[in-house]
Amino acid sequence: MPGVTGDHYFSTAPGTAARPREVEFTVAGRDYALTSAGGVFSADRLDPGTAVLLRKADLPAPDAVGPLLDLGCGYGPIACVLAASAPTATVWAVDVNERARALAAANARRVDAADRVRVAAPDDVPAEVTFAQLWSNPPIRIGKEGLHELLRRWLPRLAPDGVAWLVIARHLGGDSLHRWLVEQGWQVERRASQKGFRVLRVTR
Ligand SMILES: C[S@@+](CC[C@H](N)C(=O)[O-])C[C@H]1O[C@@H](n2cnc3c(N)ncnc32)[C@H](O)[C@@H]1O
Repeated sequence: MPGVTGDHYFSTAPGTAARPREVEFTVAGRDYALTSAGGVFSADRLDPGTAVLLRKADLPAPDAVGPLLDLGCGYGPIACVLAASAPTATVWAVDVNERARALAAANARRVDAADRVRVAAPDDVPAEVTFAQLWSNPPIRIGKEGLHELLRRWLPRLAPDGVAWLVIARHLGGDSLHRWLVEQGWQVERRASQKGFRVLRVTR
């Protein structure tokens, strides 16, 4: 896994040194400079799968109010792009990794969205919150069962007309995940296939 140092990027409390660093990227003509650190996913650059997702999926409209969810936010690149694209929306940034959550909160401040980005551990998202959009570059490395469990937990929290955008590498099971989602009763459109990544649009 690129950019991962020492223990797994999905550790709750990474033991590796933080060694802060800067990740710069451009999405939809807007430049971002975010803080990353060791012990979080793709710490040294915007992950190529995340880049494909942010390029190929439909970013929220400027008047979207959300709530939007970045599931498995890492240091928060997706959450920050969502918050910048929809400047009044509430964005939930959820991760099990506490260092990732601290970085996502810091990066929300860097994009002037600290008042709208709610960074939380999974169990700390209030049960009554439903999401207009769910975005995820999901943690494939937790295994197929873990991934299915994660999606069974969060996809039902989409609002009735909600949309989920997922990116998965084909060689890590993108197409079998597509089939599994259909078996679970979701409508799935393969929106894009680029650089070995599948971008899936999932609705009820
Ligand atoms: C592939 S990384 C994507 C990170 C970030 N969104 C990005 O694009 O750089 C997946 C993230 O999911 C987190 N994760 C793992 N298990 C999780 C769970 N059960 N609930 C929420 N997040 C989880 C990992 O800690 C990791 O940060």
